[in-house]
Amino acid sequence: MASLKEFADKVRETASIVDIIGSYLTLKKGGANYKALCPFHQEKTPSFMVSPAKQIFHCFGCNVGGDVIGFVRQYEKVGFKDALEILAKKLGLAVPRFAVSSYDAELDQHRTILYEIHTLAAEFFAAQLKESRGRKAREYLKRRGIGDKVFHDFQIGYAPAGWKNFLRLAKQKGYSEKALEDAGLIIRSQREPVHTDGRMAAAEGETRGYYDRFRDRLIFPIFDALERCVGFGGRVLDDSEPKYINSPETHIYKKGQVLYGLHRAKDALKQTQSALLLEGYTDVITAHQFGFANAVATLGTALTEPQARLLKRYCSDVFFLYDGDEAGQNAMLRGCEVLLKRDFQIFVVTLPQGEDPDSFLRTSGKEAFAALLDAKEDFLQFFLSAAAAKYDLASVDGVEGKVKAIDLVRPLLRSVGNPIYLQNYVHRLAEFLGIHEHLINMYLKDVGVGATTSVRNATDKLAQGIQEKRLDQLHSAEKGLLRILVEHTDVRDQLKELGEASVKTDTRQSFCTDFDPEWIFDARVKKWVRLLLSGDYVCQTDSAQGLLADLLDRCEDEEEAAFLREVALWDEAIEDYPSILEEIILRLRLRFEKAKTARLSEEIQQSYTQGNQDQILPLLVSMHSDSQRIVKQLKDQLGL
Ligand code: GTP
Ligand code: MN
Repeated sequence: MASLKEFADKVRETASIVDIIGSYLTLKKGGANYKALCPFHQEKTPSFMVSPAKQIFHCFGCNVGGDVIGFVRQYEKVGFKDALEILAKKLGLAVPRFAVSSYDAELDQHRTILYEIHTLAAEFFAAQLKESRGRKAREYLKRRGIGDKVFHDFQIGYAPAGWKNFLRLAKQKGYSEKALEDAGLIIRSQREPVHTDGRMAAAEGETRGYYDRFRDRLIFPIFDALERCVGFGGRVLDDSEPKYINSPETHIYKKGQVLYGLHRAKDALKQTQSALLLEGYTDVITAHQFGFANAVATLGTALTEPQARLLKRYCSDVFFLYDGDEAGQNAMLRGCEVLLKRDFQIFVVTLPQGEDPDSFLRTSGKEAFAALLDAKEDFLQFFLSAAAAKYDLASVDGVEGKVKAIDLVRPLLRSVGNPIYLQNYVHRLAEFLGIHEHLINMYLKDVGVGATTSVRNATDKLAQGIQEKRLDQLHSAEKGLLRILVEHTDVRDQLKELGEASVKTDTRQSFCTDFDPEWIFDARVKKWVRLLLSGDYVCQTDSAQGLLADLLDRCEDEEEAAFLREVALWDEAIEDYPSILEEIILRLRLRFEKAKTARLSEEIQQSYTQGNQDQILPLLVSMHSDSQRIVKQLKDQLGL
């Protein structure tokens, strides 16, 4: 039996990334690479690049990238093994039977059975709705105005009254009670059989302890992202309690990992780049019926991390249409935290008191609903308004209220991943409360242990971001250096020698006379350059493609990998590398030496104010004789 990794290597060897991606997208050749409109985000000009030489792809717009298997995984939204199977088919390779652990194989088989049972149940419930005993349910749907089309789209069904309707059918089809119980469709009776007559108990058979979970209820099947039915929600047809009975969590259904309606909303989510996030089954169905096909729901829980990740595949904005009560607001708060970590733009839509999207659409219509969406508030504004309604913020002694308001939004600000957004939010918070931004930042830092590190990280990142912008040109130069090192063995060897040479002579006829990776500012570039130039680094192959693949394997996370791909694919090949390499290195060194001089002069200043006279002299000497001399030399060399 082949290992998955061996087969993956074979697929990588056989496949041409240009042919494979070209079978999904229209690729245009431009220089050494191919370009296309990125399938993973919306764009008007192509920033999606495919490199035949390096056998990788990368989007400069959204940072998605990888090798040929990675493309198929992300494009088809499948796992590693499925991607291999798809590729094998395209390449005409026979898929070997993979050695999997018996535990995995068993779980796989178990899941397959659970999916089958759910498909059977969904079909059974849908059929029941059309039968004569489904009349009551049909009338209920009609009364609520649920139209034929959505009704089919969402495969609404009816679970008839009675204890064993589905159980009997499923057993007939050969499914065991154990499997049906694992699927959450039948429940084992808590009570012991009351019969004392052994003969009778035997005659009723072993099924007597089990009964259907869903009885006399309208059924809403729940689908996962791959459009497989994984669970059900069942609503009573009257006002009795409980209103809903839902599937329990099973091996194929985790409540926090699916979004109700996603299977019908995907296209609209992509097209509008936004999701309407609702609370209930009927809200989603009605929204779709009225043409708002980007509606999905979390079913009675706050949005979770996996759900946010799922949404991020399709869109960038989220509109909350939750109940405005305390519970709804809390669920929104927690949902916002999760979404902010993933850079979503978040808006809140407020419905009139006592209405949900379903009732509002039915009484007020499509245009009124669209107007509500237009009147959205951004999430920060929404929570600040909520705070203003709750606490006294206006009066002179409104200090306490202001602190409470900051406390309310603090968990949100802590979650903001993007430092530029964070600064904007802090700014607006400061304006709203009439408190200095600086104080808000301080307060955010001082309150709570968690806040300290995350806010500080974010502000540090911000400062670094601004500095990086100023150094953008040099930053590109650093990336260029790394790129040249990856592509040219000879440069690698020369720089390695320079770094190792204990005696540095100024007569050497090379790119430059000295090199130290310390001069590199970007920690990511520095890391790779250090590695490539270290004596310990060995790579099986000397080709740029093999080297890059090896570096990509060494990446600790996707962010790091995206950076490497960006460097490798950015711009055309650097042809005249010997001439620009020298300039790059001189410039890096100039910046480094300038910073050193600045540090020295700061130390001198400090010693002076502290009256440490005797420390000043050596510092002055070092500054004038060494650093400034080097800076001057470098400037001369660069013709500055
Ligand atoms: P309608 O009353 O038919 O309009 O249903 P709804 O979807 O508007 O229900 P509601 O707004 O009351 O609740 C929102 C969601 O919370 C529902 O879709 C369910 O997922 C969940 N939910 C509501 N009531 C119950 C319940 O009694 N039990 C469980 N487990 N979940 C519920
Ligand atoms: Mn409702």
